[in-house]
Amino acid sequence: MSVTVRAAAKFNLHLGVGPLREDGYHPLATVYHAIGLYDDVTVRDAAQWEVAVTAEDHIALGEVPTGDDNIAVRAGRALAGHHGVDRAAKIEIHKGIPVAGGLAGGSADAAAALVALDRLWALETSDEDLLSLAAQLGSDVPFALIGATAIGGGRGEIVAPVPDNGAWWWVAVGNEQGLSTPSVYRAFDELGGSDRGGDPQVSEGLLAALAKGDPDLLAGALANDLQAPALSLRPDLAQTFADGEEAGALAVQLSGSGPTIMMLCRDATHAREVAGAMQAKAYDRVWAAPGPVAGAHVVTY
Ligand code: C5P
Repeated sequence: MSVTVRAAAKFNLHLGVGPLREDGYHPLATVYHAIGLYDDVTVRDAAQWEVAVTAEDHIALGEVPTGDDNIAVRAGRALAGHHGVDRAAKIEIHKGIPVAGGLAGGSADAAAALVALDRLWALETSDEDLLSLAAQLGSDVPFALIGATAIGGGRGEIVAPVPDNGAWWWVAVGNEQGLSTPSVYRAFDELGGSDRGGDPQVSEGLLAALAKGDPDLLAGALANDLQAPALSLRPDLAQTFADGEEAGALAVQLSGSGPTIMMLCRDATHAREVAGAMQAKAYDRVWAAPGPVAGAHVVTY
């Protein structure tokens, strides 16, 4: 018997970062948004933990660990430990989310593995316990469980859904070379981000744009405190921002800690036009995706 769970990529509509905490994390006030790029995670019983990873075209697998340090295996071990069961599984991950792109693909895999193994082993873990296991695995993992659009507090792990009446369309433009999240947070500190003080806040303007579902309002309300630090490490990304604006996107913003760049479009037709214009400029990692979409959910059982 096998169970397959699908989990979506995330993009931060707002990523407000506060000063470095003593535990090495930064306090966040973020608005997460799940978009229609997916990883599928299939689990079946096995004598030992095993992981196999495949991917859609244009997704490089170079950086995905295939041993015990894969986050989906860590998720499986954490779930088994939580219930005190001595079981293992073979985990197959099929990636449609670009790797090390700032789209939380690893977090999606962890969330999917938690849900898939919970079903496979009929553990009936409570939502509260799943969210708490998720938070221990990574700051973005709880959001990957719930999906849609949600505010993230703490280091990102405390999530609460927010009203979102939009039927948004995005174009994601990936980059051959990944960016490591800790290095971008370090650049944030080095550029003085941690000296500014004060708690980060989510803007009322963004929440109003989401409630109204108005793309022009949303275009003016996107924000990401990691964008300048990421650009300081990767000045080449500025060209993609300029190309996105020239392609007619309503707004262009870095996704999370990058390097994927998100382009807000008016609707599906506009997203196809912007994606086509980016491909015509010789970008070969271009995806049009709707949002919001669901969190980790079973697709075959
Ligand atoms: O929680 P996660 O394992 O995804 O975080 C990866 C790294 O990103 C952390 O070790 C830390 O360097 C940085 N980070 C941070 N503040 C956050 C989230 C992540 O500094 N709120």
